[in-house]
Amino acid sequence: MVLDLVFFSALLCWLPVVGAPSAGMWWAMGVSYSPASTEQILCAKVPGLVAKQARYCRKHLELMPSVAEGAQKGIQECQWQFQGRRWNCTTIGGDPSVFGKVIEKASRESAFVNAILSAGVVHAVTRACASGEPLSCSCDKRRKPPPDDEWKWGGCSEDVKFGVRFSRNFLDPRENRRKARSTMNRRNNEAGRQAILKNMETKCKCHGLSGSCEVKTCWKQQPDFRTVGYLIKEKYDSATEMEITFRREDRGTVEDLEPKNSHFKVPTFSDLVYYEPSPNYCEYDLDSGSFGTYGRRCNASSDGIDGCDLMCCGRGYNTMSEETVERCECQFIWCCKVKCKSCQRIYDVHTCK
Ligand SMILES: *[C@@H]1O[C@H](CO)[C@@H](O)[C@H](O)[C@H]1NC(C)=O
Ligand SMILES: *[C@@H]1O[C@H](CO)[C@@H](O)[C@H](O)[C@H]1NC(C)=O
Repeated sequence: MVLDLVFFSALLCWLPVVGAPSAGMWWAMGVSYSPASTEQILCAKVPGLVAKQARYCRKHLELMPSVAEGAQKGIQECQWQFQGRRWNCTTIGGDPSVFGKVIEKASRESAFVNAILSAGVVHAVTRACASGEPLSCSCDKRRKPPPDDEWKWGGCSEDVKFGVRFSRNFLDPRENRRKARSTMNRRNNEAGRQAILKNMETKCKCHGLSGSCEVKTCWKQQPDFRTVGYLIKEKYDSATEMEITFRREDRGTVEDLEPKNSHFKVPTFSDLVYYEPSPNYCEYDLDSGSFGTYGRRCNASSDGIDGCDLMCCGRGYNTMSEETVERCECQFIWCCKVKCKSCQRIYDVHTCK
């Protein structure tokens, strides 16, 4: 399962190939390598691609940088959502291929990582398509007529169905074993995609003389990725614990998943599932994927998970003073300048023992 991240990190290597993601237009930089000769090499360079994925990679080479971008966005969002928690989605030395063994466990955290990466791929691919650059996809042109005459479709509606299909076709073939873990990963991949699919937003713009709204055109747009992160985080909090069931078939035993407690609601396609408990992430134990919380910053005035009591697992904390220089007492000077003083601020930093 660590493969997942080796795989994504190999994709990340593609980012520089097509230029740095500057000004949010990274996808528009064009895939300037000539596909015929390089596609074999590029798709072969990603370790752990199953045959079906490698074919898909060659077929959609121009979208692979978006896959990489999506994976990167997913990891960044994971770290943002989990900052100030014991498990904070750290990758060792910033290298996503060594996410740590936490991903090997069929835990809630693994469920979140799968979902956010899969959603990242949907998001980046869909946006790239709407930019008009890739040849194999574009805006969504199959919109049903609007329900009334007050507005009409216009502009570019993002074709999220393409992005979702892409994410399914590219990511899910990895999860082809008749094992519980494959089932879990497939489900969580899908939950990530549903978070976008179910929360598409309608944006509108007015046209008309002097700001009137004679004509209104509307289009569909994906929620921004921070919103997607929050939605999946909610699913993490309410994830369903499953257990493995076994079924005999001609070809052997097939594993499947069922809710562990029959009183639990049956998870939908939008829900995260897991079947192994998480470590408490207090101690350094790479075998269980835990970096421990020694030396982590904590908030002495919080009772929450970022508070020193919980973060430091009862071991106590050290306090140090840090100093920053900030702009302060800013004044607006007519016209048009802002003048500030610099003030020294001293504050306490708490770190876990
Ligand atoms: C996340 O946790 C790791 C390991 O405990 C720590 O080194 C790192 O500074 C933490 N990152 C943040 C943003 O708190
Ligand atoms: C620490 O926790 C308190 C109480 O929850 C909160 O008001 C404050 O903003 C937190 N400080 C930081 C630096 O996060």
